[in-house]
Amino acid sequence: MEFRLVVLILLVLTMGVAAEYIRPPPRKMIHFPWKPKPSSYPQQVHISLAGDKHMRISWITSDKHAPSIVEYGTSPRNYSFKAQGESTSYSYLLYSSGLIHQTVIGPLEHGTLYFYRCGGKGTELQLKTPPSQFPVTFAVAGDLGQTGWTKSTLDHIDQCRYDVHLLPGDLSYADYIQHRWDTFGELVQPLASARPWMVTQGNHEKENVPLIIDSFRSYNSRWKMPYEESGSSSNLYYSFDVAGVHVIMLGSYTDYDQYSDQYSWLKSDLSMVDRERTPWLLALFHAPWYNSNEAHQGEGDDMMAAMEPLLHAASVDVIFAGHVHAYERSKRVYNGKVDHCGAVHITIGDGGNGEGLARKYLDPQPDWSVFREASFGHGEFKVLNSTHAFWSWHRNDDDEPVKSDEIWITSLLGSGCVAAKSHELRKILLEP
Ligand SMILES: *[C@@H]1O[C@H](CO)[C@@H](O)[C@H](O)[C@H]1NC(C)=O
Ligand SMILES: *[C@@H]1O[C@H](CO)[C@@H](O)[C@H](O)[C@H]1NC(C)=O
Repeated sequence: MEFRLVVLILLVLTMGVAAEYIRPPPRKMIHFPWKPKPSSYPQQVHISLAGDKHMRISWITSDKHAPSIVEYGTSPRNYSFKAQGESTSYSYLLYSSGLIHQTVIGPLEHGTLYFYRCGGKGTELQLKTPPSQFPVTFAVAGDLGQTGWTKSTLDHIDQCRYDVHLLPGDLSYADYIQHRWDTFGELVQPLASARPWMVTQGNHEKENVPLIIDSFRSYNSRWKMPYEESGSSSNLYYSFDVAGVHVIMLGSYTDYDQYSDQYSWLKSDLSMVDRERTPWLLALFHAPWYNSNEAHQGEGDDMMAAMEPLLHAASVDVIFAGHVHAYERSKRVYNGKVDHCGAVHITIGDGGNGEGLARKYLDPQPDWSVFREASFGHGEFKVLNSTHAFWSWHRNDDDEPVKSDEIWITSLLGSGCVAAKSHELRKILLEP
């Protein structure tokens, strides 16, 4: 009797706290029916930007002798162009991967639909290249995994009109079980073969076994990003331009101190950014610097101490992170304080992985934190022109995408911060 009363009181209390929206539990891993395919049939196709007007097509075949060719053109089944790429494979304890093909195609026209086919076999796929000018739209979601919620998030992203997907780390949650990288590749192919997916690494990509397997072996083999094209020596950090936006992908799980390769690459990359040509500057990495969730509290602090002054001097407009399985948006902030020349920090590690949501928040909410909610969902960042962008966050409300946070973000170029800080930036860039 007493016990029941306590349960009833607890129930009423929790309902009071979560009044507006009952957050759902994690969903199970999706299982794929095994569909045998010819061994030379292309699987797990995904595409990524590879320097000006070029795109890298990646796919896998079981056949270790399948050719790395891509045929493509602007009308169906009429391939005017053909490109030859290269292939690689890796082994991981008892697992050995299929042949991983990487073929760069181009030069491509901007904002154009292309029809293509991998390896001379299989179905024809379609991709759309990003526009050369504003407006340009990014879909953003991290910590995806491959559960029923991942599927729901991907369905919602598929419904929005976007040009490029940005993924701030934690892709497959393979967690050492290598064939899960293959099922993840199949799960995302419908989206990732149609629009460029630009990813950076999370802790779940590391998968190292001390003395036996180096970090990021699977991730680096399967998700090659344009690091060579952007002057970087590592797939773990790189940059690219889309329309008038320069995007910097950083690595939370590789060296980032002032004497690291990553830091010196970042300085040289920033020294080449021309805000006339790319008025907007974005950065992504996995472990958030501004996070008022109890989960992963303080994990980004060392990287923030090393890199925030440089990114601030460079007037980075918006920083996207993942890791925490929830959504949070900050005001413009720098060095722990609200600062009109600081970056807007957005944590969007809510793609739908099986570990579930991070529900506990620090109380009181810090000054810099505007909106925080533990729900699955995805974001859309639509850059309209050199001064205005519209950000929206869409919660997976059961299986409906419901726009639950939205805001106009004005650029640091427009507000004069870029000009005001150019001297400070030059000083940091010249430091040895
Ligand atoms: C095939 O593509 C080429 C070049 O894009 C074009 O000139 C030609 O008309 C197309 N042929 C057909 C049958 O669509
Ligand atoms: C940019 O877009 C915003 C929102 O539509 C508009 O108010 C503003 O005037 C535009 N600015 C420029 C320079 O076109």
